[in-house]
Amino acid sequence: MGNISKIKSQIRLAKEFIIYLAPCKRRLLIIIFFSLCAVIMSMLNPFLLKYLIDSVLPAKNIRSLLSVLVISGSAFTLISAIKNLREYLELKTRHELLFALNSRLFSRMQSYPYQWFRSKSAGEMVFKLSSDTSQIVYPLTKILPHTLIIFFRISVSFAIIFYFDRMLAVISILLAPFLYIPHYIFIRILEKAWLESVILSENILNYLQEVFSNILLVKSSGRETDHINEYSRRLKARMSLEIKTRKTDSLSSFTADILNKLVFGIILGLGLVRIISGRLSPGTLGAIITYLAMLMNIHRDIIALYQNTVQGLISCARVSQILNEKPETGTAQEAELKITKGNIEFKNIDFSYTENKNIIKNLNLNIKHGNHVALAGQSGIGKTTLLHLLSGLYEIKSGEILIDNIPVKKASASYSRSQIGYVLQQPLLWNDTIKNNLRYEAPMASDEEITAAARAACADIFINKLPEKYLTHLGGNNGKLSEGEKQKLAIARALVKKPKILLLDEAMSSMDSNSEEKVLENIRRSYSDMTLLTVSHRLSALKKADYVCFMIQNDKMVIDKPEVITANNREFRDLFLGQI
Ligand SMILES: Nc1ncnc2c1ncn2[C@@H]1O[C@H](COP(=O)(O)OP(=O)(O)O)[C@@H](O)[C@H]1O
Ligand SMILES: [Mg+2]
Repeated sequence: MGNISKIKSQIRLAKEFIIYLAPCKRRLLIIIFFSLCAVIMSMLNPFLLKYLIDSVLPAKNIRSLLSVLVISGSAFTLISAIKNLREYLELKTRHELLFALNSRLFSRMQSYPYQWFRSKSAGEMVFKLSSDTSQIVYPLTKILPHTLIIFFRISVSFAIIFYFDRMLAVISILLAPFLYIPHYIFIRILEKAWLESVILSENILNYLQEVFSNILLVKSSGRETDHINEYSRRLKARMSLEIKTRKTDSLSSFTADILNKLVFGIILGLGLVRIISGRLSPGTLGAIITYLAMLMNIHRDIIALYQNTVQGLISCARVSQILNEKPETGTAQEAELKITKGNIEFKNIDFSYTENKNIIKNLNLNIKHGNHVALAGQSGIGKTTLLHLLSGLYEIKSGEILIDNIPVKKASASYSRSQIGYVLQQPLLWNDTIKNNLRYEAPMASDEEITAAARAACADIFINKLPEKYLTHLGGNNGKLSEGEKQKLAIARALVKKPKILLLDEAMSSMDSNSEEKVLENIRRSYSDMTLLTVSHRLSALKKADYVCFMIQNDKMVIDKPEVITANNREFRDLFLGQI
């Protein structure tokens, strides 16, 4: 029962990927046609052999001998040409399928909410997009034509053997299943090992990705040797698994080979007995043996195809899991959120990341367009969470967030985010020029708009001091800039698209306080209709806001003018004691 349901689910899984073959239908038919031509031609050769042994050689006819040689030589040339053409077509199909599958997988990944990515690692994604998809595509291109060809070759070979000698054909059919016994026994062990190997390889890639993206931490803590040891430990684990798997595979092939020879020997022995008893001509036995040898080769093809398919299905399951996740909600066209002013309203918001810990409880907050509201509160109180909710990165559990009276939840999350400027504490930049980084969120921005934004973010001074100015390439890990400079670029990037709402989440924490105040003043002056929501731990920056929203507990906050809160709220005064 278990086996049947497993087979059913494997078929369902395979179907999910076989549809990718649809656009290559015609080419697949051509491949099948060419392959059949080659098979038919190669199957004629034993007939020629029989003719050669039984008729040409006894008659000592040189002309007939030459014709046989010319015919079989031409057949070989044609078969080789067809084989190469078929391989070329298969390769083309494989690459097209890989393109289709990778594009689809990548765009599905891009459609998932941010929360989904939090439980995944970059290495895992890269592995699925590179190794798993290749593992799927290889058997996918082969399975249909090869199954058909294998089926054709087996039936024709048996039919011909049957035509030559019924008894030998029946014995061959009865003995054939024995050839597959070793594979049946060993495939379960191999399947488990292949899955384990995929996981080990993925973990190695994950590990490397993490080490290289945290290389500054590795270097600054002098932990290089530990990482070298850990990397080689992981490599060794995979190596010994691969070697063990190879051993099992060899044992399986060895047993199959022995059985192969045994079956071959039995049929040959029986054939010889039938020659002695005058029931078979030597030429016919020669032809039968050649067809049998072909059948033995088919056996190898079947095993290789089966193993590739099992490996492919392991990857199919891993990729299918990702393809079938739920995309970000709120993609209804009619609810597209066009931010025209930038009024924000949080209405009775409840939110928790996990079931049992409420981060935000019954929160209400109104922000009028063009105002600057500063969020303040202890680390971990939920300031970043609030900004994540506003930008639709996470979904609220209950309540409503309205931007210009349209619920954020209903709008396409990505579309609404593209209209909000959101600068994080960690300035994320691309390995590209400063100019391209600045126009990332507004690709059509002019040079003037870019320099104006850089000026407002106090970035133009340091950019102009660089030898290549705006064309400076930031390099990997943006190693050429200080953290404060990177933060200035991140703010400038958000300003280039002139959003109606700008969120700055500790976005100036690595700058000196003068720069922070200056940037805030510039933004208020140059982008006066922008609604500004900032998070800062500096009292000087909080004082620049129209209102301070002081988050005290998950269900308690105070909103007032900065000077009023500073003067009247004891908890606020305690938190900023050193700065008052
Ligand atoms: N993805 C997450 N999963 C679970 N808990 C989280 C996640 N992100 C943040 N938290 C928790 O939510 C709380 C609020 O975090 P955050 O909004 O980042 O605080 P703040 O920005 O005020 O320092 C913290 O206790 C934090 O540990
Ligand atoms: Mg935070």
